[in-house]
Amino acid sequence: MSAVLPPSSPGPHASEAVAFAAERRWSLIVAAVIALLVLMMVITGLHWASMPPSRVETVNVKTLHLQGEFVESNLGTALGADGRVTVRLIAQQYSFMPQCIVVPADMPVTFRGTATDAIHGFVVGTTNANTMLIPGFVATFTTTFRKPGEQLMPCHEYCGTGHEAMWARVQVVAPEEFLSRARSAERLSCVPR
Ligand code: CUA
Repeated sequence: MSAVLPPSSPGPHASEAVAFAAERRWSLIVAAVIALLVLMMVITGLHWASMPPSRVETVNVKTLHLQGEFVESNLGTALGADGRVTVRLIAQQYSFMPQCIVVPADMPVTFRGTATDAIHGFVVGTTNANTMLIPGFVATFTTTFRKPGEQLMPCHEYCGTGHEAMWARVQVVAPEEFLSRARSAERLSCVPR
């Protein structure tokens, strides 16, 4: 409208009207963005409430050390009768159990972990092995390590004053070496004894 008037003939209130129109247009856009965000929050909230994540596995923190899957003697890497490799670990302030984990390269490895005291988490080097560990819940994922070698596994959820000192190591070894070591022990780890 008046925005296209040549500069020589502006009406006394033309610029005011242009500014008002721009302000109103802008406020409508902002209102629409806010409405869209609120709508997204409502929809995702309702969706998650009606369809919880497909798999939630809980574990009793109070008896974790005493019985069941996460007793100390069962932690570490296990080679199942079906050939599946499972790593079981616990996170607590401020360490992982076991401190050094052995896994084979080029074989699917399933991690099963939980935490005893606070929310922890870990990532293995630059791989996609990455999860949170929440007290009362079992975190699990399956991944395959391609390259043999040693990786650092730091805690990546702030869990208290010792957080930055909380880490473990992961040794990825050749499948043949892993299988021969698995024959000699029920649960493998590379923690020095
Ligand atoms: Cu455990 Cu940060």
